[in-house]
Amino acid sequence: MTLKTVLAASAAVMMAGPVLANPQAEVLHWWTSGGEARSVAVLQEQFAAEGGTWTDMPVAGGGGDAAMTALRARVLSGNAPTAVQLKGPAIQEWYEETGLADISAVAEENGWADVLPAQIAEHMKCEGKWCAAPVNVHRVNWIWGNKQILDEHGIEMPTTWEEFNAAAEKLQEAGVTPLAHGGQAWQDATVFETVVLGIGGPEFFRQALVDLDPEALTSDTMKQVFDQMRVIRGYVDPNFSGRDWNLATAMVMNGEAAFQIMGDWAKGEFLAAGKEPGTDFVCAQTPGNGFLYNVDSFAFFNVDGDDKQQGQALLARLIMGKDFQKTFNLNKGSIPARTDVALDEFDSCAVASAEAMNAGAQDGSLLPSYAHGMALRGAQAGAITDVVTAHFNSDMSSDDAVQQLADAVANAM
Ligand code: BGC
Repeated sequence: MTLKTVLAASAAVMMAGPVLANPQAEVLHWWTSGGEARSVAVLQEQFAAEGGTWTDMPVAGGGGDAAMTALRARVLSGNAPTAVQLKGPAIQEWYEETGLADISAVAEENGWADVLPAQIAEHMKCEGKWCAAPVNVHRVNWIWGNKQILDEHGIEMPTTWEEFNAAAEKLQEAGVTPLAHGGQAWQDATVFETVVLGIGGPEFFRQALVDLDPEALTSDTMKQVFDQMRVIRGYVDPNFSGRDWNLATAMVMNGEAAFQIMGDWAKGEFLAAGKEPGTDFVCAQTPGNGFLYNVDSFAFFNVDGDDKQQGQALLARLIMGKDFQKTFNLNKGSIPARTDVALDEFDSCAVASAEAMNAGAQDGSLLPSYAHGMALRGAQAGAITDVVTAHFNSDMSSDDAVQQLADAVANAM
């Protein structure tokens, strides 16, 4: 062997080995509330423990609208972050637009296909290759209640919208704000989709908000949904406009309102504040059956530089790690995306969520959340949300709302 080949060989070994590795990741996400920050900290710690350098790019704003705007600005200026919280069809939309890093090697080495439900795995693929890593499964159709208020007024968690309305009226008469709500478009959409599921049932939800069937969108059932939205509007306090979702959760926590309709990231807030399910707060599925899922995941842009690429691979591996999925989800309020994580340390709401998810996978009522970007492309979801918000914040009739809904969807096709 000549000196040159010896040197080349040893350089190659060093390049491949972990010694020189300095994994870097700039991570754009919208986890800024108390429970969310506690959750993402778990990932930051594990990344650092493996020698990685994490540059945090949090963009405040529940539901991620502001984060997605920030992401677009970064990509357009030719400076895409190495990792981004991205989910649902937006993953494939970005893949089509800019390409995304192929993380199939990490996925295959770590057997992701064996431990993820097929429906979730499908969301993580771009043209058959793995292009995103899932951290959890959030259930959207939850209603949270302040235990003390409910007990004081002799109210059970409602199982139908009629029961919800009756409870809300009773509370209102007693001077209690029935529903903590933040008037932001995505929060209106969150309530709306649970009402669509509750009043129409899973099959109707699919027709209306997944298949965008014009008949379903203009049906009498959809009119009833808007009627119920109008009723709900009467149960929120006068200061709801623009309020962040976690502040609405705090109202339930502090006894300023009885209920909140919100995905189980709200439970992350209760837990971060030391509240116990069953004692301080109660969880129930929103009236009706089915499971609206919202899977958080991370995708990675194509970037130059070994350190960045190693950062992406490390992040992908950690995100799908068994330990991480347990600790992260204990904080986040969700359940692990991996099916092989034991739930014995999880609370009763999480266990109920897992049971409902499995039941939903069997009977076809496991449905993607439209309000949280799991069901539709961005333009279509946005078109629906515009109408839902416009209706909620005006005296628009249900007849007009369904017509506008159908028109908006047709224009966004
Ligand atoms: C995300 C959650 C997040 C919530 C509020 C949802 O769209 O999936 O992870 O906690 O928005 O910010």
